[in-house]
Amino acid sequence: MAVTTTSRDGIAVITFENPPVNGMGLAIRRGMTDALAAANADDAISGIVITGGGTIFSGGADIKEFNTPRAEQAPNLHDVIAAVEASPKPVCIAINGTTLGGGLELSLGANYRVANAKAEVGLPEVKIGILPGAGGTQRLPRVVGLETALNMIVSGASVPAGKLARTALFDAVVEGDVVDAAVALLKDRIAAGGPHPRVRDRKVEHDDAEAFIAWARMGVAAASKHFPAPLRCVDAVAASLKPFDVGMTVEREGFTVLLNSPESKALRHAFFGERAAGKIDDIGADVVPRAIDRVGVIGAGTMGGGISMNFVNAGIPVVLVETAQEALDRGLATIRRNYEASAKKGKLTEAQVEQRMALLTPSLDYAALGEADLIIEAVYEDYAVKQSVFEKIEAVAKPGAILATNTSTLDVDRIAAFTKRPQDVLGLHFFSPANVMRLLEVVRGAQTAKDVMATAMAMAKRIRKTAVVSGVCDGFIGNRMIEQYSRQAGFLLEEGALPQQVDRAMEAFGFAMGPFRMGDLAGNDIGWAIRKRRYVEQPGMVYPKNGDLLCEMGRYGQKTGKGWYDYVPGDRTPHPSAEVEAMIIAQSQELGITRRAISDQEIVERLVYALTNEGARLLEEGIAARASDIDIVYLSGYGFPVWRAGPMFHADQVGLYNVLAAMRGYARGHRGECWEPAPLLVELAGAGLSFNQYTARPRAAA
Ligand code: 3HC
Repeated sequence: MAVTTTSRDGIAVITFENPPVNGMGLAIRRGMTDALAAANADDAISGIVITGGGTIFSGGADIKEFNTPRAEQAPNLHDVIAAVEASPKPVCIAINGTTLGGGLELSLGANYRVANAKAEVGLPEVKIGILPGAGGTQRLPRVVGLETALNMIVSGASVPAGKLARTALFDAVVEGDVVDAAVALLKDRIAAGGPHPRVRDRKVEHDDAEAFIAWARMGVAAASKHFPAPLRCVDAVAASLKPFDVGMTVEREGFTVLLNSPESKALRHAFFGERAAGKIDDIGADVVPRAIDRVGVIGAGTMGGGISMNFVNAGIPVVLVETAQEALDRGLATIRRNYEASAKKGKLTEAQVEQRMALLTPSLDYAALGEADLIIEAVYEDYAVKQSVFEKIEAVAKPGAILATNTSTLDVDRIAAFTKRPQDVLGLHFFSPANVMRLLEVVRGAQTAKDVMATAMAMAKRIRKTAVVSGVCDGFIGNRMIEQYSRQAGFLLEEGALPQQVDRAMEAFGFAMGPFRMGDLAGNDIGWAIRKRRYVEQPGMVYPKNGDLLCEMGRYGQKTGKGWYDYVPGDRTPHPSAEVEAMIIAQSQELGITRRAISDQEIVERLVYALTNEGARLLEEGIAARASDIDIVYLSGYGFPVWRAGPMFHADQVGLYNVLAAMRGYARGHRGECWEPAPLLVELAGAGLSFNQYTARPRAAA
């Protein structure tokens, strides 16, 4: 971390550096203020250029300082911008690369801005549930206009500087060295004798500002139901029509409220959680990933096809292997249909469709996998089938090729043992539809080599997946937890609820879909098949029987036109089913249960705490490395409400003491034996700690 000053032709060039994103933490703010004062005190200096070290200007304020005293400790960001704005000598910002949030706000305090045409600029604060709080909502409209500023601030999207070259945001947009250009510009303007402009002195011009703001407010309110930040952004930008200092007060108030909002805390948790998930504690930067230039996929069904599309989309050639020509043809036709649907929507050109299809090589021969650096099998979930597939893979795969199973429930170590190279084997658990869902569980076997893990994490980034590492266990992180959730949903039916009530309650809590609608979409027979295996493997595990009865009635879900709900052909709208209701009520009678009214609160608590409790077990077993990994699984793969940031963070917000107390209450009710609290939950609740404060105990070395 450093702030350095050099001199060029009487211009001081202040460079600040705080890798990786030149965040404007306290040390940088101090260094910059001191450097500015020193340059102003130096008679040999007539103007000041500020630029970022490395390839980025700044990612903005240091988010890690938020809600800590350091954020406001002098000089805070406002103080630094005020010092730049009040500088007796003119200041030009040389925007050398990405300039976000507080970085862009700093530049708006200066007299001049020169940017590299490719530098991305933006105010992404809304994405972490706040608004630009260092003058961005007031100064940006003054230079790019009300509409562009509002769009940028409400969406948080960044824009290449070249696109804004004609606005007053930039005095010059260049292709070459931005510091040279800034020095030259500043010398010119000094020679011209000033006065040197200030953004705050400009006015926001708009023909019908009031109508535009009213229209924007309506649209934003409709699109941001669970998030207060976008509307606050509109309020603050609207205030830019007022005198500058009045607008700044509105911005300040909005910023303070939002910074303490649960939604912003949740979004920041997700921001850091997503980045943390990409790291594996015992695998450092010294572990070199293997090259992945060619991929093999076995199985051209829905899963194999979707997996293949991920790689093809990233420009990586795929050999797709099947056992029968018909299955191969069907798989390829489905992939082509998917791409053509994207082309119809204007997301791909016809030429791109053909380019992608050309990256796919269909084959009926395992020998075609010989050149693949990564081979993923997506065949039937059965050990005997997997064994035969892995033996065939082993016979053809080149040394060093990574061998992956896409199993969602089977033991990856047992599968690895089918080969003589278990160090090259891991699980890559894609979620269906694999070309759409962001989540990828990377399953680390007992013998998986470190560079294989590093390769999988790097590869996930390339194919734009959110990768989370899981240890080996039945269901890994996501499905092992969802099983507890589904069981609770079934028990609630036994006690008095109906599917539509449970779904409504969970959807009101914020889930994209309640458990029964989800079951109908995914196919209820999938869970049924897993349960049948469990009845043999874990005879002690109690399941609600209604899921099995449903399947015995042939109600597999949308694909059979009926599941927990009835469906009209060609329409996915769920209609409550009299047949299902009768089955549920008969089942309660058979169990000798007098059905009772169940509150939505109980439904939500039981389903969410079932996730939390199993999550706690995964943490203490070291299957998940950190609580935020579990949250990221649920945010990116299971439709958990983003503004609640996942089952572990949610429990932390409720307070683990309260969660435990609620669970103990449910333990006294129907199927109370399912509420045995995880020892880690008891331990943390007793110590007044949260899951996110818990650092996993070291796992037995792999
Ligand atoms: N504060 C603190 N840490 C930050 C940060 C920030 N503003 N931005 C990024 N980081 C950290 C990340 O957590 C990560 O840390 P890690 O290596 O320990 O995991 C590291 O920097 C690298 O981040 P990425 O992996 O995201 O790197 P990329 O190169 O993919 O992306 C980026 C860089 C585009 C700058 C991206 O990190 C980003 O979008 N950052 C957030 C930008 C943002 O929200 N800025 C607004 C801040 S709020 C503000 O300025 C308030 C003001 O209005 C008052």
